[in-house]
Amino acid sequence: MTHGSHTHSVSYVSLVSIIAAVAGLLFGFDTGIISGALLFITKTFPVSTAMQEAIVGSVLFGAMFGSLCSGKLTDTFGRKRTMLIIASLFIIGTILATLAGDIAMILLGRIIIGLAIGVGSYTTPLYIAEVAPVQIRGKLVTLNQLAITLGIFFSYVINYAFIQFDGSWRFMFAIGVIPAILLALGMFFLPESPRWLVKQNKIEKAIRILQKLRNSNNVLPEIHDIKNTLRTKQASLKQIFSAPILSVLLLGMMLGLIQQVTGINTIIYYAPTIFQLAGFESTTSAIVATIGIGLINVLATVFAVFYLDRLGRRPLLFAGLLGMTVSLTGLSLAFYLQLDITKWLAVGCTFIYIISFAISLGAILWLVVSEIFPLQVRATAMGFAVFSCWFWNFIVSGTFLTLLANLGPSLTFLLYAVLCVLSLVYCYFFVPETKGITLEEIENNIHKRLPLREIGQPIYYAVD
Ligand code: BGC
Repeated sequence: MTHGSHTHSVSYVSLVSIIAAVAGLLFGFDTGIISGALLFITKTFPVSTAMQEAIVGSVLFGAMFGSLCSGKLTDTFGRKRTMLIIASLFIIGTILATLAGDIAMILLGRIIIGLAIGVGSYTTPLYIAEVAPVQIRGKLVTLNQLAITLGIFFSYVINYAFIQFDGSWRFMFAIGVIPAILLALGMFFLPESPRWLVKQNKIEKAIRILQKLRNSNNVLPEIHDIKNTLRTKQASLKQIFSAPILSVLLLGMMLGLIQQVTGINTIIYYAPTIFQLAGFESTTSAIVATIGIGLINVLATVFAVFYLDRLGRRPLLFAGLLGMTVSLTGLSLAFYLQLDITKWLAVGCTFIYIISFAISLGAILWLVVSEIFPLQVRATAMGFAVFSCWFWNFIVSGTFLTLLANLGPSLTFLLYAVLCVLSLVYCYFFVPETKGITLEEIENNIHKRLPLREIGQPIYYAVD
């Protein structure tokens, strides 16, 4: 059964999604700011390369840990109160990092910010997918990715604006407190997720909130569908690790892996280094090219917001992975041939790569992992998928400079291109199309043990 949405309700549910997406803005900002801040931190506190890597890695480490705790948090406290925990962690971490008197305090602050990012990267898509009407779920969940890219873009601009001033790392960190306070305040306007409320047996409240979200009194069929999915056994780790849930869990974790091992953060975190290697001599021009990357990332994500629900997830995923493969191969060739125009080829290829990522894996990972897990196990299972994403991010960004030094840029990018091809094959066989189908229908299909690729098909099409 698919329940209609009512156009006039779109504005309320959109507003709710935008507020939740502020956590995405912080995710982007706080992961992007470090590349610039690091240059100045090392002037205030001279530290070894290993310690610099630790400063960069601390956020990713915190995020890994945060994503593991997220399931427990959102199930125990609800989705809404978890948002308040996230905002508080962002504020505390930012204050510590900004006022830090030594490196240990910076590390502590960045780990706490990482915790907030990890919990936020999980809670926002989960929450939006649960409040969104089916027809625009893709669009609303992708607002989170749009916020992430905006956060990255702002951090690049701030890095650039403060490049002249010594000691400006404190200011760079401090700016992050503004969206964190906005998130804390915005939280008071968010309704609790009706799906979580039904799970807590707070049916009356769930009905009231759903009526407001759908701007319609006729929400009983949707409540009924949610209740039905809860009739299955209580969630337990045992249930998660048994078929058919296990295969969906592996799909989620594979998507987390694929989003990272295809190399996105080698560009997002290290673009100025890559551009300098390609022949841009001044730091300033390398940073200007990096701002270009940030902007293109935002614009291509806007495209994804509008087209994911129209074109579907799979076509965009394939087009994107193909574009990523071609552009990485091009980048590898540009470095191999070392032509006069290598630096421009490098810029062109990175731009194509970013566009291809933004319309595919960037948006789709968060969307699909918020859609495919049955409600009983959704929180825990999604935690594993998000953990996988942060874990592989940690591995890839922690090994990139070593790969560059040992294999050289040409082979390094070729490696990511090969991983893109393998990912394309995997996605072709295993990723379902989840456009226009309710979360409850997906869940029914999983329990019917349809092959993964078919769990997104409306029930009346599903044949065994
Ligand atoms: C990824 C991040 C990445 C960002 C780039 C997100 O979906 O999870 O690792 O930095 O996209 O836009």
